Amino acid sequence: MIKLTEMTVGQTNVPKYKLNNGREMPAIALGTYLGHDKSGMVRSVNKQLRDVVMQAIDVGYRHFDTAEIYGTEEELGEGVRRKMEEGAVRREELFITDKLWNTHHKREQVVPSLRESLCKMGLSYIDLFLMHWPMGLHLRDWFPRERQEQTLDGICTRVLVVREIFFTCTRNTDVLQQVLMALRFRLQTAITSEDYTHSDVDFMETWLGLEDAVRLGLARNIGVSNFNKQQLERILREGSIRPAALQIEVHPQIIQTELVQLAQRHQLVVMGYSPFGSLVTRYGIKFPGPTIDDPTLVAIARRHHKTTPQVVLRWLVDRNVVPVTKTVNPSRLKENIDIFDFELSAREIEIINKFDEKTRYTLPSFWQTHAYYPFEKVDNPSADPFIKH
Ligand SMILES: NC(=O)c1ccc[n+]([C@@H]2O[C@H](COP(=O)([O-])OP(=O)(O)OC[C@H]3O[C@@H](n4cnc5c(N)ncnc54)[C@H](OP(=O)(O)O)[C@@H]3O)[C@@H](O)[C@H]2O)c1
Repeated sequence: MIKLTEMTVGQTNVPKYKLNNGREMPAIALGTYLGHDKSGMVRSVNKQLRDVVMQAIDVGYRHFDTAEIYGTEEELGEGVRRKMEEGAVRREELFITDKLWNTHHKREQVVPSLRESLCKMGLSYIDLFLMHWPMGLHLRDWFPRERQEQTLDGICTRVLVVREIFFTCTRNTDVLQQVLMALRFRLQTAITSEDYTHSDVDFMETWLGLEDAVRLGLARNIGVSNFNKQQLERILREGSIRPAALQIEVHPQIIQTELVQLAQRHQLVVMGYSPFGSLVTRYGIKFPGPTIDDPTLVAIARRHHKTTPQVVLRWLVDRNVVPVTKTVNPSRLKENIDIFDFELSAREIEIINKFDEKTRYTLPSFWQTHAYYPFEKVDNPSADPFIKH
């Protein structure tokens, strides 16, 4: 079983899990997806997210979760770089999780996509690189691939010449190489656009790309997100590098016992996103299910002198699941990490487990006809927000 070791940061003692390659992951992560509303994805205004990341480091967070699709890599990177420059934290004390987006599932797209993410963050590696979903989606080619390749190579050769000149001045080849690769990738995405039709790229091909990222030293660990039991078993069976982590939705309304046990049996650390479930308002909507003042949760919270959100986060920790929780509120940042000085009893865990009704808040049913769709299908799939109508 994965075991916890202690790490002392400021006023909090955040434990860490030993991953299957000996590296360590802090037992709580701050999520950076800012949510969405009727007008689309919520964006950080006036560097709010950068400032939250800096405050989070001050109160003890060392693990941050982002993804290419969240549009938060730049500000996350800026926040952690500033704290490193201040001397508050060293890179090796931080754990950054990032995710590959669905339109980059071909093996040759994976490393360039990661390089671009690293460029945005201003970092030379990430600690964990996850395949965000098992499903690949298409980029639409605006002109034939051969011409695209030629054009890109032409541009990149010219950049290489400039690079050589620059090299004699700076000798910083790693950074330049990164910039060059990122430029090539950015050009490629500029001359193509996502049409989001289903691609049949097998997620095992994508996995090979993630393995490439490890071999190149760009990702310290790799894993998957939103994979079901059969899909995870296939990665375990056919991959050369064992996944270190599985990120899935876990909260009192979807407790995921089977999947959590399967992953933990194979020494993966499970990360649980959206840990508050119906406790909080999502996308401006109040969903049915236990709320923050639910009498059962309040009774447990009183017994431990904690709040109900802290009880729910601790319920994940006591199941060896890393909560990936998001807040941009300074006092809730402190509240959410102040969960390592108490434990729930087996009976209390069981009581919370009873809220399970397999409710998902991340349910992209608009992709449910995809061959690699991981979840149960519904009768009335929602409209695809990625396709402009
Ligand atoms: N792999 C995937 O496909 C996937 C999918 C979804 C999410 N994620 C990751 O998981 C992270 C968390 O997801 P989430 O935002 O759905 O989860 P969440 O942490 O369960 O909910 C966040 C909401 O709860 C509020 N909140 C936070 N702490 C609170 C507290 N102590 N008391 C009351 N309200 C509180 C936040 O508002 P304030 O900000 O105003 O405090 C925010 O509205 C994301 O940021 C992302 O990194 C991954």
